[in-house]
Order: sequence, then structure tokens, then C-alpha cells
Amino acid sequence: MSTWSPSSWREKPILQQPTYPNQSELDKVLNELKNYPPLVFAGEARSLKSELAKVSEGKAFLLQGGDCAESFSEFRASNIRDTFKALLQMSVVMTYAAGVPVVKVGRMAGQFAKPRSSDTETFDGVTLDSYRGDIINGAEFTSAERVPDPQRMIKAYNQSAATLNLLRAFATGGLADLHQVHKWTLDFTQQGEVSKKYEALAEEIGKSLKFMEACGITSSTYRTLRETDFYTSHEALLLPYEEAFTRKDSLTGDWFDTSAHMLWIGDRTRQLDGAHIEYLSGVNNPVGIKAGPSMEADDLVRLCQKLNPKNEAGRLNVIVRMGAGKVGDGLPALIRAVEKEGQKVVWSCDPMHGNTIKASNNYKTRPVDAVLREMKEFFQVHKAEGTFGGGVHLEMTGQDVTECIGGSFTVTEGDLSSRYHTHCDPRLNADQALELAFLIADSLKDAHK
Ligand code: PEP
Ligand code: CO
Repeated sequence: MSTWSPSSWREKPILQQPTYPNQSELDKVLNELKNYPPLVFAGEARSLKSELAKVSEGKAFLLQGGDCAESFSEFRASNIRDTFKALLQMSVVMTYAAGVPVVKVGRMAGQFAKPRSSDTETFDGVTLDSYRGDIINGAEFTSAERVPDPQRMIKAYNQSAATLNLLRAFATGGLADLHQVHKWTLDFTQQGEVSKKYEALAEEIGKSLKFMEACGITSSTYRTLRETDFYTSHEALLLPYEEAFTRKDSLTGDWFDTSAHMLWIGDRTRQLDGAHIEYLSGVNNPVGIKAGPSMEADDLVRLCQKLNPKNEAGRLNVIVRMGAGKVGDGLPALIRAVEKEGQKVVWSCDPMHGNTIKASNNYKTRPVDAVLREMKEFFQVHKAEGTFGGGVHLEMTGQDVTECIGGSFTVTEGDLSSRYHTHCDPRLNADQALELAFLIADSLKDAHK
């Protein structure tokens, strides 16, 4: 009974959508987007799927990271470059220290739409619609800004295209060359303890590269030394936008969502009979499902069946986000149920979304300690279950922000106000992210012993 089409989600119950005041303007924008060039090519999404298939077999690790929400106002080459560099640093730490190839996926070039816990927000007695991400409405607390505006989809598309263009240039134009490993360090982290550890590792890589060069293996002879593969992903939340980019691959006749290589479904919109699952069940990209503490093992099994009926390796990524202290309670049952059915999935840990707290000065923050702890617990559970903890999903930036507390530089509650720039959830800065990368490398070494 295959009744799927790019618009069949419209027949299903849907959560977390804006109400556009002007339907004809919305239709006009969507019709325009349908004619815009795709952002990614189906063949690239297929390559990512085969990379993720290796992760599901324990032969590689998935590193996914970027902003909680990209924004129009923070759109700058330096921001894109620095997050890219931070991801390269993390990836080289994991690859070199643990000997595991790393599949790199940015939460970039399209991560604009946000699910919210409440439809409205009240400040000083004034109630307005919640901010839903720059692709929908504005963050500023004014009634004009909060009205959903379809033109924002066009702006988000253009920003995504420019971001992706730069990412492709960075990945293949020299910045990602392993000989540049020293230059990936971000200025503000230079004096830190973690940075020193990184420098020591970069020294060793430099020596290995010299040795390889003497053996005739150089950047000019080996593409993998001078280039990297970098993929994009975002939450497939705003379905009218995703539908507009759903295109049939001319080589295979399969449907792909060409707005990113990989899409994921948020913890709030993963209802088995809901619109989001319907939509993603029909596109052939790699797909992630967030699994918070309320995820039941039976539901996860059914979601896997629905999203991956052919049990294709690399298609599904379960992104577990329980919160520190809760992984041991929630994750084993999920792993056992999926294993019992023989379902092939990549297991990732999102150590961010279960660890959000309000600081005493009201800032939304995350303690780096809790982030590190959840990551450790994730690996411990996998070790005990005999399965492979294959990935991490992070909200992070290459900028010197003070949004998460703790870490080797010790950002305090008092520091939060100094450089708190996120448009939604608090992100790890490059130093904090690198600290996590060393922890992951240790756990991977342990898992591969
Ligand atoms: C997110 O990844 O930004 C997010 C909203 O996550 P979750 O759906 O897991 O809450
Ligand atoms: Co978030």
C-alpha cells in the first residue's frame, strides 16, 4: 500500500508548524522554491549512506555538529570557517588517537527551523507567538517580528546555498589538507590545556606526514590527504520547505530531499502516524530520529520498520538524548529491542538536549560536566550491551562563546552574559568541543581494544 508522495504528509496530523497569515503568498513562495536548484545531489546522499553503513558496522565514527539554530544575523564567512575548523580538529583527534575514520556532518547550511516547548511566550505581561527559527519568524520580541513570513524561506535557501558553497570550498580547496592541522587551532583556545594536547598530537601527525612523504605519499598524490568529505544536515521540521526540495533522482528514479544530505526528526515530532515520519519515510536520504527519555522501545522498533523497511545499513541514525544520569535507565531497553529485531542503525549520542538548565541569572545553559558524563555513560552502556556507540550529535561553534558552563577554561555562570550569542540553545565553544573529542577518542580506543 504505497501511497507516499512528496505531499502525502499533508494528510497526517502535524505538530510544530507556523500558521502563515497569507496562504496565497505562501503558495507563491513554495512554487518558486520548487524551481530552485537542489542544494545537494542524490549521489552525495548515497555516499553519506554508505559511509554511515560503515559506522553501523563499527568501522567509522559519526561526528555531527553545528549551531542549534543558524541565523540570518550571524551569517559570516568567519563563523562558517571556524565551526568547520573546530569539526576538523575534533575529527583529527578521533582519527589519530583512536584510529577510526570520522564521517563529518554539519548542522549547517539549512538548520533554521526550531521546535518549541510552547506556542507562545510571555514577557512583562505581553504574550506573543514563540520564535520558531529564522526561516519562519524573527527572534526579536515584537509582534511584527513574530509573524511567520514565507519570504524567509527564500532567504534561508540563499544563505544555505552560500554556506554550502563555502563548505565545499573549504573541504576541497586546501583548508582541510592534513598538512594544515596546526592552522585549525582557533585563536582564543591557544593557551588552554586542551589546545596544548592538540598541539602535541598535531606535531605527531606532522612527523607521520613527513615519513609518508618520504615514501611518496603526498597531498598531490592522495586526495584523502588534501581533501575531506563534508556533509550537511538539519531537522526536517518545516515540511512545506522540505517538500519543495523533494526531487526525483534522475539516475535511479528515487525521491531525495535535496535541501541537505541528511535530515533528522526531532523528539517532539516523531509520532509514528504523524506528518514528519510520513514525509521522511519516502525520501532516500540518511535519516536521524531523536530519542529522548520518553521513547518506548516498541515505538522505536516500529519507527525503524516504517523508516527503513528494507533494513538498509546507513539509512537510520538513532540520536539518543537522555540526559546525564539517565542513559543507563533508558538506553539498554532501546538497544535490546532494536538488536532483537536485527535492525541496522547507527547509534549516536546527543549529550546536549537532555542537559539544559537555567542558571541562577536565568540564562539557559548546559554544564560541560554533564555533557561529558552523558557521553561516557553512552559508551559504557554500549560496551555492556556489546554494541557500537557510533556517533555524537552536538550543538557547538568555533566561536569563543560563553554559553555552556565549565570546561577546561571554566566558563562560570557570571561569564554567561559576556558572549552569549546563540539564537536558541547554548552551544559548546571550540575549546569545550575539543575536550569532548579527546574523551570520545579515549572511549573509542577502549571500544576497539
Ligand atoms: C535540536 O536538535 O535542536 C532539538 C530541538 O533536539 P530535540 O528534538 O532532541 O529536542
Ligand atoms: Co537545540
